[in-house]
Amino acid sequence: RRLAPAPQSLTGRHILVTAGPTHEPIDPVRFLGNRSSGKQGFAIAEALVALGARVTLVAGPVSLPTPAGVSRIDVQTAREMAAAAEGALPADAAVMVAAVADWRVEPAAGKIKKGAGAPPALALVENPDILATIGHAARRPRLVVGFAAETDTVVENARAKLARKGADWIVANDVSGDVMGGETNAIHIVTAAGVDSWPQLPKAAVATRLAERIAAALSGESL
Ligand code: CTP
Ligand code: CA
Repeated sequence: RRLAPAPQSLTGRHILVTAGPTHEPIDPVRFLGNRSSGKQGFAIAEALVALGARVTLVAGPVSLPTPAGVSRIDVQTAREMAAAAEGALPADAAVMVAAVADWRVEPAAGKIKKGAGAPPALALVENPDILATIGHAARRPRLVVGFAAETDTVVENARAKLARKGADWIVANDVSGDVMGGETNAIHIVTAAGVDSWPQLPKAAVATRLAERIAAALSGESL
């Protein structure tokens, strides 16, 4: 019987993972946010620990248990996530799975009441791009991995993000179907060298394969 080669170890490596959505308050009872269960990011953190990594998981608001052995930092907003992620450096790799809210508003101190005239207008302000900040940081991890949820021209959009964000890989996910909150993912890993498309797999299997690929990249000379 022939066995698959044993995966490379991540012992001694520190890896930063962001996961889940961010919530940007509108007032004390309302927020702007993205759809994200956090399942894929948490599964990746767990798979990295299983290969021996020390993992810092910066998590937005999700209802998931902390995987054993993972150091978790809970945050609400994109700016809190940015501060926690930058504070976790240095790291050997960063895997940015979070669905960060692209905009925030200046929150109202009290609850906004309806019916007192026209509906309130939300003045949106762009949030910091955490992946781009880390991808261009002085203390840039050797391997920087972004995710991209796309509904159209998935690989082309991922290629553009690779360059713009200073990432080594973009893991592109076609979310035009029913992926958000689901148990499986079909992904394309877009790198400068090309595109690696994986079949639809359970999120745990995506996590294991990705952790093995990260371990191989950190062990090898090239990414
Ligand atoms: N990302 C981030 N900080 C942000 C926005 C995105 O770190 N403020 C990261 C995500 O965690 C992901 C990658 O960037 O790893 C791509 O996110 P995505 O939303 O697809 O990219 P955007 O640049 O925000 O583009 P758009 O939403 O317009 O497609
Ligand atoms: Ca976005």
